[in-house]
Amino acid sequence: MIVLGIETSCDETAAAIVRRKADEQGEILSNIVLSQIEDHAAFGGVVPEIAARAHIDALDTIIRQAMKEADLTFGDLDGVAATSGPGLIGGVLIGLMSAKAIAAAHNLPLLAINHLEGHALTARLTNNAPFPHLLLLVSGGHSQILLVKNIGDYERWGTTIDDALGEAFDKTAKLLGLPYPGGPQVEKAAAKGDAKRFALPRSMKGREGYDFSFSGLKSAVRREAEKIAPLTDQDVADLCASFQAAICDILDDRISKALTTFKERFPDIAQPQLVVAGGVAANQAIRQTLDRVLSAQDTQLIAPPIPLCTDNGAMIAWAGAERLALGLIDSLDAPARPRWPLDPDASSKIGSGRKGAKA
Ligand code: KG4
Ligand code: ZN
Repeated sequence: MIVLGIETSCDETAAAIVRRKADEQGEILSNIVLSQIEDHAAFGGVVPEIAARAHIDALDTIIRQAMKEADLTFGDLDGVAATSGPGLIGGVLIGLMSAKAIAAAHNLPLLAINHLEGHALTARLTNNAPFPHLLLLVSGGHSQILLVKNIGDYERWGTTIDDALGEAFDKTAKLLGLPYPGGPQVEKAAAKGDAKRFALPRSMKGREGYDFSFSGLKSAVRREAEKIAPLTDQDVADLCASFQAAICDILDDRISKALTTFKERFPDIAQPQLVVAGGVAANQAIRQTLDRVLSAQDTQLIAPPIPLCTDNGAMIAWAGAERLALGLIDSLDAPARPRWPLDPDASSKIGSGRKGAKA
C-alpha cells in the first residue's frame, strides 16, 4: 500500500511517500520538507498569512519532488493523505485541497488526517510501537500526555493550561534576545550555563492530574532577567540552564505519575512504552530526563529520529496508510478544521491550544 502524505498546517511545506507492507512494516520512499523559518524569523514567530502564501508557492514543487524521489507516478499510489487539522486554517486548506484534487483526478481514496494522529502514529512507522502506549507530545502548539489505545482511539490525560512547551521555549528565547525559533537556541545557551543559579518555579509539580503550565515559569525568567539587566552572555546561559532544568523537573513529575497510572491500568503489559514526539523532543536534556525517569520505571522510551519528530509529510502518509488499511476513507467534502482534539471527550482547558494552530 503506497500513500502520498501532505503536511501544510504550520510553517513546513512537506510531502512524502510511504509504503505499508503486508506485514504492517513501514518504509519511507521519499520525505521532502521545506521549512519557512526564514520567512517568519524577522517577525519572531509564524505569521499565518505569510505561511499560507509560502505553501501555495512551494507545494506543487514539493509534491513533484517527493514523487520523483520515490520514482513513482500518481497512478502507482493507493491513497492520498493530507493534514486537515488542527492548524493554521489557510495552510491546512491549501494542503487538503491539493490532496482532494489529486484524489479526484486519479480516482484515489482521500485520507483526511488529524495532524496530532500523525505525530502519535510515527512511532509505529519507526519502531512498530504496539497499542496501548503513552505519548508525550510536545511541540510549538501542543503539550499533551495521551493514552494511544488504537488508530483513532485516544485518551487525553494531560494538557497545558496555558503555553505549549515549544511556545514557552520560544517566548523565553525572545525575552532573552535569542533568535526564533528559540528552542534550539535555549538548549545551546543552557549547555554553557549554571542550572542552579536561579530558583525558578516548578508549576503543577505534585498536583493532581497530568496537566502542565508553563507561562509562570516564563514570567519568572523575565523577572530574574529584569533584576540583573543588562544581561551578559553568561547571565543568558544561566537563565536558559535554570529554565531548562525546571522544565525537566516538571516533565519528570508529570510523566512519572502518568506511568504509575498506566501500569495500574495495564498490569499485564510487561514493558510499557512511552513515545515522545513534537519539535521539543529534539531537546537532548529532555530526552536524557525521560531516559532516566523511564529506566527507573522499567519503561521503554521510543523517540523517533528528530526529522520525524518535527512536522513532516511521512507521518501524515503513514497515518493515511494505517487508516486506509482499516478502510477508514474520507469523502471529498472532508472539512479543514482549525481545532480538532484527538480525544473529543477531553474537557477543554483555559488557554490550552490558544493559538489553535500548531501541533
Ligand atoms: O513540532 P514542531 O516542529 O512544530 C510545531 O510546533 O508544530 O515544533 C516546533 C517547536 C518550536 O517551538 C521550537 O522552538 C521547539 O519545537 N524546539 C525545541 C528544540 N527544537 C525545536 N525546543 C527545545 N529544544 C530544542 N532543541
Ligand atoms: Zn506538529
